[in-house]
Amino acid sequence: TSYSRITGTGSYLPPRRVTNDDLAKQLASHGIETSDQWIIERTGIRARHFADPGVNSSDLGLEAARKALEAAGRTASDVDLIIVATSTPDMVFPSSAAILQNKLGIAGCAAFDVQAVCSGFVYALTVADSLIRTGTAKCALVVGTEVFSRILDFNDRTTCVLFGDGAGAVVLEASEEPGILASDLHADGKHVGILCVPGHVSGGEVLGTPLLHMDGQAVFKLAVRVLEESARTSLAKAGKTEADIDWLIPHQANIRIMEGTAKKLKMSRDKLIVTVHEHGNTSAASIPLALDDAVRSGKVKKGDTCMLEGVGGGFTWGSVLLNY
Ligand code: ACO
Repeated sequence: TSYSRITGTGSYLPPRRVTNDDLAKQLASHGIETSDQWIIERTGIRARHFADPGVNSSDLGLEAARKALEAAGRTASDVDLIIVATSTPDMVFPSSAAILQNKLGIAGCAAFDVQAVCSGFVYALTVADSLIRTGTAKCALVVGTEVFSRILDFNDRTTCVLFGDGAGAVVLEASEEPGILASDLHADGKHVGILCVPGHVSGGEVLGTPLLHMDGQAVFKLAVRVLEESARTSLAKAGKTEADIDWLIPHQANIRIMEGTAKKLKMSRDKLIVTVHEHGNTSAASIPLALDDAVRSGKVKKGDTCMLEGVGGGFTWGSVLLNY
């Protein structure tokens, strides 16, 4: 086998849709002020979905995985590798991938989680591609799934308006035709403090806050720079240029970061896949959610060249260039 290729995509949003006005009302009830206008102007977000209590990452991932398998014409029994990208796993352990495997009704194949926050999906896809090209796996399920609503501080208006819950999945199979063309991954742990959930489980208690903390402006500045760099690195590895990209599918964090990246890559706005307005930032789920949306709406067609890009806590960042 020379390549791995995406043969199906799927996604799932929990049914509870929360508009900016809904959220503003909820926050106002405990004395915190925000508005639809502020959120739209600064982020492009109009609404996000929140999972109900008791619904976990593996549940959202299961729905997305089923749809991706159906689109690929595969059943769960064909899957020989499951990688789940998540920062909001069902449990400390075992992995959400192992839990998802059982929910899919299969057993035996390798299953593990990847933790790279909002870059998790490009990390997971790169690992799956490597395992397929070395012959370790033939049919991988790669899932990004998150319930960020569980780690939001609803007393901090600068972060709680930005995130949502959801899942996206792809089936990645061994192929003689080119699929994944190049990828590029990075991390720089000195930026741990600008985006983190510092709490941890110890001695039967959670020590430190289990809620998301972010320095939005520091994240913003780093994000635009590294997203451009990583896209250029993946293009160079594949012997391609910006002009070869049909669709830019970045992590859906903030419309200003996404448009800034498209501009730096000299790409027109209509080649940018945008779902942040309806999904908010769903961390590791945002790229496969956006990809599935673009495939099902008929934008991304077989053979199109797509640049997937992630950036998030760690700091982590990376990109995957592929022929769909
Ligand atoms: N509603 C109303 N006012 C608000 C809100 C809110 N929800 N949040 C902040 N404000 C106020 C602030 O208090 C501040 O008021 P002040 O001037 O009186 O002090 C004012 O708005 C401006 O705040 P800033 O933080 O300077 O606003 P900024 O323009 O930087 O936008 C934002 C903030 C949207 C968070 C921006 O910095 C950003 O998008 N950063 C990137 C964050 C991101 O995308 N993170 C995720 C990427 S990685 C990952 O996905 C995990």
